[in-house]
Amino acid sequence: MSKVYVFDHPLIQHKLTHIRDINTGTKEFRELVDEVATLMAFEITRELPLEEKEIETPVTKMTSKVLSGKKIGIVPILRAGIGMVEGVLKLIPAAKVGHIGLYRDPQTLQPIEYYAKLPADVAEREFIVVDPMLATGGSAIEAINSLKKRGAVNIKFMCLIAAPEGVKALQEAHNDVDVYIAALDEKLDDHGYIVPGLGDAGDRLFGTK
Ligand code: PRP
Ligand code: URA
Repeated sequence: MSKVYVFDHPLIQHKLTHIRDINTGTKEFRELVDEVATLMAFEITRELPLEEKEIETPVTKMTSKVLSGKKIGIVPILRAGIGMVEGVLKLIPAAKVGHIGLYRDPQTLQPIEYYAKLPADVAEREFIVVDPMLATGGSAIEAINSLKKRGAVNIKFMCLIAAPEGVKALQEAHNDVDVYIAALDEKLDDHGYIVPGLGDAGDRLFGTK
């Protein structure tokens, strides 16, 4: 079974409270999502492999550690996932960015794919799929299906807020994909919205509706 990590870092929790708040406007919402994505990227990259490098300090020669050049791909689920990309890139600037476009049919809540473009060397990359919300799990499951269909083998999923229903569905569908969450909420409402959640992530990020 895949692992689920809920980040309880005080900075993440503090910023998430403001993200949830109905009185937070689009500009601040966007900035906060970006900042939380950076903080989550710091946690998610904890296990990146290192290698030794010979360097010279002003004092002496030494062997020190550098990242061993693992290939990373960030894949936002359009459109709300876009809000998390820059924040992750701040810490992993060499990462390539793929895009998967999905929307939830408002009646059936089923995800419909309308776009997919990934880096060419899919099989060699470790992918981090980003989306602020994991609600029913349908979008994340479909995005990961799409990645696997194109050859991806090493995938993590990172979101701000998840419902227990979505986590369960994602783990059942993809038991090789670890899930990284800033907050695990109570439940879904009858329209598939996370309670208490933050509302519609795409609309709040882009000021639509
Ligand atoms: C939202 C959100 C997720 C999805 C989560 O996107 O950004 O992608 O819903 O719901 P699920 O877990 O039940 O699939 P939405 O479909 O509203 O599209 P948008 O990002 O274009 O607004
Ligand atoms: N998508 C959102 O943007 N918000 C939710 O609460 C659920 C799905």
